[in-house]
Amino acid sequence: MPAFAYLDHNATSPLRPAAFDAMAEALRAGGNPSSVHRAGRAARAGVDKARGQVAALVGALPSEVVFTSGGTEANNAALAGAGCKRMLVSAVEHDSVLKAATGLEIMPVDGNGIVDLGVLEKSLAASAEPALVSVMFANNETGVLQPMADVVRVARAAGALVHCDAVQGAGKVPVDLYGLGVDYLSLSAHKFGGPSGVGALVVRSGAPFVADRLGGGQESNRRAGTENVAGIAGFGVAASEARNGLATTDWRDQLEAALLKIVPAARVYGATAGRLPNTTCISMPGVRAETQVMALDLAGICVSAGAACSSGKVTRSAVLLAMGVEPAEAETALRISFGWNTCFDDIERLIAAWRDLYIRVTHSDITHARAA
Ligand SMILES: Cc1ncc(COP(=O)(O)O)c(C=O)c1O
Repeated sequence: MPAFAYLDHNATSPLRPAAFDAMAEALRAGGNPSSVHRAGRAARAGVDKARGQVAALVGALPSEVVFTSGGTEANNAALAGAGCKRMLVSAVEHDSVLKAATGLEIMPVDGNGIVDLGVLEKSLAASAEPALVSVMFANNETGVLQPMADVVRVARAAGALVHCDAVQGAGKVPVDLYGLGVDYLSLSAHKFGGPSGVGALVVRSGAPFVADRLGGGQESNRRAGTENVAGIAGFGVAASEARNGLATTDWRDQLEAALLKIVPAARVYGATAGRLPNTTCISMPGVRAETQVMALDLAGICVSAGAACSSGKVTRSAVLLAMGVEPAEAETALRISFGWNTCFDDIERLIAAWRDLYIRVTHSDITHARAA
């Protein structure tokens, strides 16, 4: 049995061995893609190959892929680069959208976390100022999928540009730039087995884009700075592998059925909406998420309480609050997310540990009640 079961792929997914190999090879080879000599040309060839692999993951043209330092930079660049003063974003967006937006108008969501299209339509109609609509493909905490086709239809009818943060969707379910019809698409390698610190903003041909990183002319003048050649190589390989091995919902559904059998009062957030096949956000009533995370960690299982944040401190989930979940309940929500190297044993181990924790907690409640 492996030392621990890693079920926190939405925080970061372990590096795929083939991505590691491609990175090691690129690091050994060295070379600056802007150099004209053979070492530079070899590095350039590696970046171009990866550009094709990333483009293929989302049905884009290689020339539409702008490599960045990750999803955060891609989101920041889209919001700044579209050149709109007005930005309409859903209430459940990642902070790299919410904190980067200026002229921000937040669109409410329903109980499943789905953006309110009626409010979006009315808000767009309220002003003739050019606008950017930013709505995520899939939520990082609940896995809930947004109705992107409808978002694009409403935005287009009002002449607005559309950005989609597809950081949690790409590499897990099919994502297609032209199928979605958006102008900008954000990607991050480490959410599907590539390295962290590399991602891409896909800018649809013809969409306006003003670079916010100035310097050398890299990335066709859309993002200055010497490319992270090794990271990009790993990103490309991970994109190819992810494209060939997209997940199904079977294990998630089996997991949820098992957890709900143990704790019938538990709630799965976004349960009645379309969701990513790898994500479950579930409460254990009365038991704080931190307690669950620590108990599961002791049992050798890595999961997360809502969104991981840089300080390592667990804060109440803004996503669940926006969905109308009571604060006390939101504090009991656990996020479980699988990925490319998850096996069913990991899931069975989680189910057993969750059962043990629940029995311990309910037993200690009874003991306390008797002592009182
Ligand atoms: C939906 C979403 N967008 C953007 C990001 C930021 O990506 P990165 O970690 O590559 O900066 C994350 C990371 O958690 C995310 O979940």
